Amino acid sequence: MTERVKIFDTTLRDGEQSPGASMNTNEKLRLAVQLEKLGVDVIEAGFPAASEGDLEAVTKIAQRLKTSVVAGLARTNKEDIDLAWSAVQHAAKPCIHTFIATSDLHLKYKLNMSRDEVLNAAVEAVRYAKSFTDNVEFSAEDGSRSDRDYLCKVFEAAIEAGATTINLPDTVGYAIPQEFEEMVRYVMAHTPNMHKATLSVHCHNDLGLATANTVAAINAGARQAEVTINGIGERAGNTSMEEVVMALHTRNNLMPFETGILTEHIYPTSRLVSMITGIMVQPNKAVVGANAFAHEAGIHQDGVLKNPMTYEIMKPETIGLSKNQLVLGKHSGRHALHTHLKQLGYDLSDEELKTVFKQFKALADRKKHVMDEDLEALVTEGVLRS
Ligand code: KIV
Ligand code: ZN
Repeated sequence: MTERVKIFDTTLRDGEQSPGASMNTNEKLRLAVQLEKLGVDVIEAGFPAASEGDLEAVTKIAQRLKTSVVAGLARTNKEDIDLAWSAVQHAAKPCIHTFIATSDLHLKYKLNMSRDEVLNAAVEAVRYAKSFTDNVEFSAEDGSRSDRDYLCKVFEAAIEAGATTINLPDTVGYAIPQEFEEMVRYVMAHTPNMHKATLSVHCHNDLGLATANTVAAINAGARQAEVTINGIGERAGNTSMEEVVMALHTRNNLMPFETGILTEHIYPTSRLVSMITGIMVQPNKAVVGANAFAHEAGIHQDGVLKNPMTYEIMKPETIGLSKNQLVLGKHSGRHALHTHLKQLGYDLSDEELKTVFKQFKALADRKKHVMDEDLEALVTEGVLRS
């Protein structure tokens, strides 16, 4: 039987923490609407206590969205939780996400708190958040480097206090797949009331293992994956949404899980994130990189022409990528440019199209053929900087 895995997207919170990725309120709102269209279950819209801007953005997103849960992050203090609630209370489906570190390393050097004090803070925070909303997520920061039995004790207490989702983060991207899978199994087996909550995982990519760790955790029983579009995030980033979703989709024969993601919106969403943040996707990035479906070697091209399955494990159309034959040059008009950009995944406003069209004409005067890479640069640079 196929089981459902929830997708919790934190592009607007953890993703925004990547250097150079900050977004203004309108950009965040635009992305939130796209994430809802993509079918994301939970959108972590921001950290309201972090700044006035974040508070405003989370509030506006909460007021706008209808079907996705809107979560706001809060430390375990009342002020943070009050601010998170003041923003997410407007949502059709609000959630308060509260967190505190549980590793001895963080307790000693960052929090200067004992294990008992952290456990109490977690319980108090969950209880307080629960007085506002039924939907409360608790995260044990640096969970993967925490003592397992202590972690289970904190999780058990958080569930008892009312947490509906329990999140196990690999905050510094230190875990390896076998270890993380085993840890998830341990936590599930040794937290007596775990069946009352959804177990979530939140992995960082410092060793390039975030997707592998997330998939391993799902196989071990986690039923929520915390991810970002294009894998953007703190340091080496977070687990990439498109990789986890397409791994589950493509290898459904071995992993009988489904998500609510409408995969044909993956590519346009990836483009939108690059366009808004100005962070280009590396060409060889799995699923959404420019070369992910490109075949250069003669043998590969020959094989793909005979049957795409020879070298393609996913169909480009599945992620919303259409192969495009149009060549643009100085005689191309605004309509052709608009259509071409849509095929590349960029759905520009009239104003943005006007800016890019002007720059396109200037470039086409200098260059015979304007390539897709040129257009991507025009869009990310032009729209963003205008
Ligand atoms: O990486 C992390 O531990 C986090 C928590 C706030 C969930 O981002
Ligand atoms: Zn994180």
